[in-house]
Amino acid sequence: MKQFVVQYPERVAATALAPRRIRFEFPEKIPLVWTPNYPEMSAAANSVSLLMPHVEPYVMASVRAVLDQLPQEQRIDAAAFIAQEAQHQRQHRTFNASITTQVRGLSRVERWMHRSYSWLSRTRSTRFNLAFAAGFETVAFALARWTEAHLRPLFDGADEQITTLFLWHLAEEVEHKCVAYDAYEEVDGSRLRYLTAAVTSIVILSIYTLISTVLNLKAQGRILSPVAWWRLLLCSVSLAWEVLPDVAASAMPGHHPSDFTDPIALSTWLSQYDAETASLPLWWTGAPSSDLSGL
Ligand SMILES: [Fe+2]
Ligand SMILES: [Fe+2]
Repeated sequence: MKQFVVQYPERVAATALAPRRIRFEFPEKIPLVWTPNYPEMSAAANSVSLLMPHVEPYVMASVRAVLDQLPQEQRIDAAAFIAQEAQHQRQHRTFNASITTQVRGLSRVERWMHRSYSWLSRTRSTRFNLAFAAGFETVAFALARWTEAHLRPLFDGADEQITTLFLWHLAEEVEHKCVAYDAYEEVDGSRLRYLTAAVTSIVILSIYTLISTVLNLKAQGRILSPVAWWRLLLCSVSLAWEVLPDVAASAMPGHHPSDFTDPIALSTWLSQYDAETASLPLWWTGAPSSDLSGL
């Protein structure tokens, strides 16, 4: 599979954004269901994870393509942003390698994902690709905000290593929420292009997440479970209620991502990263509970 190549400028250290190289200790065979209280959540999260080694390199390459057009300070932040995204997709690639061996058909879907983002990268303009990166980052931030608002129902009783992987990723999405947006404002700034690209990003994410979730549920033996689909529907409506207004607000003239309130728990937790040991305290997922009413 052809990969995007991203080179990092040398001055990454001169920014507040730091790439965190965390050593996750996953078992060789990662359990398909790692949220035993809420198995559908594992299916959906595994599906989002599958997208990351394909969409994030596209986002990185899109920002990388305009580095030379950015003022010095923004260029440094953009390089650090690329370094963070490189870590995200690398960790998800490791995680996905175990999941795809357990779910029939997932490798084929992964190839479709790769082709989709490669096609966009090859055929769209530099400005559209950058708008896509900015829009995708707004979606990622909205996902982080929604997740923090529903931590207990989503992760109570879940595997702590895997929960830490997903929450670390989301916490860094909050941390670098402005970078792609600022780069886009500097290079283009068209609101119409931004909205078109953001909607494209949401549509592709939704379609592939749905296909992969179906395959994950099939592998779990729950493809025909009305409860699973009902919970997924509730979850999707709740998430859309966060993402769509955030994307609409971000497309308004005069908006800046700093206008959005950050989810505080994720940011506070991320500040406990220890660079010397490359470790972050595991997210404590508490005791299993069957209460999903918070969604
Ligand atoms: Fe990321
Ligand atoms: Fe990001």
